[in-house]
Amino acid sequence: MADKMGFGIVGCGLVSQFHGAAILNSEKAELIAAADPDEERLNAFVEKYGGEKAASFEALLADERIDVVNILTPNAMHASFAVPALEAGKHVIVEKPPEMTLARTDEIIEASRRAGRKVAICLQVRMRESIRAIKAAIDSGRFGRLLEGDAYMKWFRPTDYYLMDDWRSRREQGAGVTIQHAFHYIDLLHHLMGPATRVEARMTNLMHPEVELEDTLKAFIEFENGAEGLIEASTALWPGRPPRIEVNGEDGTAITEGEIMLAWDFRDERPEDERIMQIGRGSVAAGGTGAADLSYEEHMWLIDDMVDAIAEGRDPYITPRDARHSLEIALAMYHSADSGEVVDLPLPDDAAV
Ligand SMILES: NC(=O)c1ccc[n+]([C@@H]2O[C@H](COP(=O)([O-])OP(=O)(O)OC[C@H]3O[C@@H](n4cnc5c(N)ncnc54)[C@H](O)[C@@H]3O)[C@@H](O)[C@H]2O)c1
Repeated sequence: MADKMGFGIVGCGLVSQFHGAAILNSEKAELIAAADPDEERLNAFVEKYGGEKAASFEALLADERIDVVNILTPNAMHASFAVPALEAGKHVIVEKPPEMTLARTDEIIEASRRAGRKVAICLQVRMRESIRAIKAAIDSGRFGRLLEGDAYMKWFRPTDYYLMDDWRSRREQGAGVTIQHAFHYIDLLHHLMGPATRVEARMTNLMHPEVELEDTLKAFIEFENGAEGLIEASTALWPGRPPRIEVNGEDGTAITEGEIMLAWDFRDERPEDERIMQIGRGSVAAGGTGAADLSYEEHMWLIDDMVDAIAEGRDPYITPRDARHSLEIALAMYHSADSGEVVDLPLPDDAAV
């Protein structure tokens, strides 16, 4: 294998452990440097995962050994780092959601186009083996006409989680179960079922009276292809269970729980079904009880995909344009919950939470 590609990290908070471990274990990526104004977090990160301490974000951008910059800052700061990184000629991996508004997401898309550099959004659950199997079956027509796609994310986070950092309890900064936790599953339904046309949602706070946020979401989605979907997502439901995804078509049903394929039933049985039904057996980690209960492997696939996308001159697996629609669905949920009305998509370009 040729030399590894150089990576830089911006933001050494909670999620940085997955990026650190993913790069450390990747055969394609090498950690060059990390930046964070919080000296303690920066020290802890480089001590554990290696790389140098960059004096500043600007110093990281000036480092010619770095080809890809991973933006791991709070949600409403993503464009502020992604745009200058692209302008400095770096490719960029941005943590989810792409940003907090469609306009800020468009700034990232536009900067990527102008600079001719790639952007991937870290929606790593799409890379889960069970989800890839369902996606492949949908794309090959095995489900027939899609009828229903549902996600149930019944998780628990203690109040301390919301008070740990200032941004975690401020909705416009990207706090709340819809944009922060359910976003992966909103994105999965978009990924599997296609674009959405209509959203209806209700949001409540069941268990965290100390913060003014929704900790529970219920939403109904209509998809362009005529299918329907439900999302129930919460961080109020102790102790938290692995998330469950259900897809029903006229010719088949698939259900995953965490990494496990719980059901895989098709009218036309095929030899590969036996292997697919074993996916995830022996592993149950999927974030139900806390972020630390996730593995770094899905992040590693995303990082390796960026290296391959650059080498092959193709788009990364998860582009910001694609993630923009998942953000649009999430924003429509806030609009619906606030107004008590059904919301039709597309939303205007200036839509925000
Ligand atoms: N993909 C996933 O499953 C997943 C899981 C958790 C978090 N996330 C996402 O990752 C992002 C970060 O979340 P987190 O939980 O790690 O947050 P965090 O608050 O723990 O970490 C953010 C870090 O950014 C740093 N930062 C702030 N300003 C900076 C600057 N000017 N330069 C460099 N660093 C700066 C902060 O000091 C902090 O250490 C969010 O977008 C979140 O939604 C994704």
